[in-house]
Amino acid sequence: MKLSKIALLTSGGDSPGMNACIRAIVKCALNNKIEVFGVEDGYQGMIEGRIRKMSYSDVDNIIQYGGTILGTARSKDFLTVSGRKKAIDNLQKLQINGLVVIGGDGSFAGANQLTKEMDIAVIGIPGTIDNDIFGTDHTIGYDSALNTVVSAVDKIRDTATSHHRIFFIEVMGRDAGFIALNSAIASGAEIALIPEEVTDLEELVANIKNSNKGKRSTIVIVAEGDDAGGAKEIMDKVKPFLQEYELRYSVLGHIQRGGSPSVKDRIMATQMGVHAVNLLISGETNRMIGINGEKLVNHPIEKSIKQHDKPDISKLILLDSLRTHF
Ligand code: F6P
Repeated sequence: MKLSKIALLTSGGDSPGMNACIRAIVKCALNNKIEVFGVEDGYQGMIEGRIRKMSYSDVDNIIQYGGTILGTARSKDFLTVSGRKKAIDNLQKLQINGLVVIGGDGSFAGANQLTKEMDIAVIGIPGTIDNDIFGTDHTIGYDSALNTVVSAVDKIRDTATSHHRIFFIEVMGRDAGFIALNSAIASGAEIALIPEEVTDLEELVANIKNSNKGKRSTIVIVAEGDDAGGAKEIMDKVKPFLQEYELRYSVLGHIQRGGSPSVKDRIMATQMGVHAVNLLISGETNRMIGINGEKLVNHPIEKSIKQHDKPDISKLILLDSLRTHF
């Protein structure tokens, strides 16, 4: 069937660059004489029939903005068969024959399920700050979030150094340590605690003591999903063994998800958006787009939900080899 109408949605946690991707999809589709419909608030809006036709003017002047103009949600109703049936009916009523889903692994699980229950082509684009999607080097928003974290850590370092303090800084990453590990390297933090590695609190205390020798501050980056707890919990656990130091913690929270996308995210989001439309035009379905080096790739969506991407934990050696060892 010739592609004539597509819908697009953003789902799961928003990430900087989603708007750049929406812009690319809408413009590229319209230039190919394909009508485009934006679904509000992800799968929830699809269930509730909140689907609106989009024009060039809807995506004018949005490439530089964080968040998503379509809104997003984590829909519980979509996990039910009846919820998905309503969502599919709403797409069919509008005679939509292609769908682009921008989101993380939960969103792709939904997309994959949809392809089993309807005859509408689906393409997934990875959008999450966590960067934990299998099949792509980077996800939309990760680079921007990393830059936000590094600039926040730089600021905390100023005050930590002024006060001779040890800081535990919690960053996002429920299941993955990409943000924690790479922000630690880029900010010159002394230690990174990530979900992919078991945290040994005795070793942590020894590393903090060593790294602080001859220095005015030490920074420990903690991924929120670390097995020993969040920044506050870990700080409280090691406090009794570090009584001679002043300890503080900071949770960066949702500032990591907002803000203007980086150049890298804008370019990648644009490339992926155009590629998604081209894949739909060429009759592809159930594919997730990824980037491998500079090259766009695509894989079956199923592959990306069965496997989880992990950071290169050998990079922890970098931190170790730069920490003071007396
Ligand atoms: O999935 C992205 C993410 O930012 C995670 O790192 C974090 O755990 C989660 O979203 C927070 O989600 P919410 O905004 O729904 O609390």
